[in-house]
This record gives sequence, structure tokens and C-alpha cells, in this order.
Amino acid sequence: MDKQATHRITVCTSCKHKGSVCRPGYELIEKLRKAIEVAGDTIPENFEVSGVACMAGCDRPCTVAYHGSHKATYLFGDIDPDVDVDDLVTFAQQYAYLHDGWCSSVDRPGKLRGSTLARIPSAIIGIEASTARAS
Ligand code: FES
Repeated sequence: MDKQATHRITVCTSCKHKGSVCRPGYELIEKLRKAIEVAGDTIPENFEVSGVACMAGCDRPCTVAYHGSHKATYLFGDIDPDVDVDDLVTFAQQYAYLHDGWCSSVDRPGKLRGSTLARIPSAIIGIEASTARAS
């Protein structure tokens, strides 16, 4: 039986190659799923890879997001399915170990150092703030 996913990678399925109608997100999803499967236990958490239509980073195709419960969320742009899958898998390995998901750009692999569009604190921070206001 498959283990339940504890982390998620979301790939934009609407991003188009610049100057083309080609939408490489589906290709990226397939490559990333296979690469994560091959990586096996070198990634100590289960990552589900799925697609979504548009994450508002349309000028930087492809866009890819990493999510985990109680962890910072990352949105990366300029991801090329032919070049960057290894970096995405390496980041999954790192992200799995980060208890709050937080890391600096110099710690991210390869292109991900310079292609981070957003690093969003975990939602638990918002929940704590609203609880504090209510009391
Ligand atoms: S079309 Fe991919 S982020 Fe908008």
C-alpha cells in the first residue's frame, strides 16, 4: 500500500514556453513523479506531485510550489522540465528535513537559488495570530 503523502509539489499546467503555445507543465509532472519515485528513501517524506492551472507567476514559466504542513511554502519560476528535475528532487530532500520549511537562498540547489518567486510562512502563524486576537 502507498504511504500517505505528507508533502506536496504543485506544478502549473497552464504555463506556456515563451513564444510558444506549448504547455510543459504536464511533462514536468511526469518527469518529477518518476524522479521522486527513483529517489525513494533518500527523500524521508512522501511527496505528492500534482498540477494546478496558474499560480500567478505566468511571466516565469514553469512555476512549481512546495508545501508541507506547518512549513513555509515556496514558489519557484523559470523551471525547465529538460534541465531542472534534479534540482527539484534535491530540494524535496532538503525540504523534508526542514521542520518549519525555512531556508535561505544559498542553501537551495542550482537554479532554485535565483528563481524563488515567493517564500510564504506557514499558515500556523496566521492561526496563532487570529487565536490571540480572539482571546
Ligand atoms: S500560467 Fe503558469 S503561473 Fe500563470
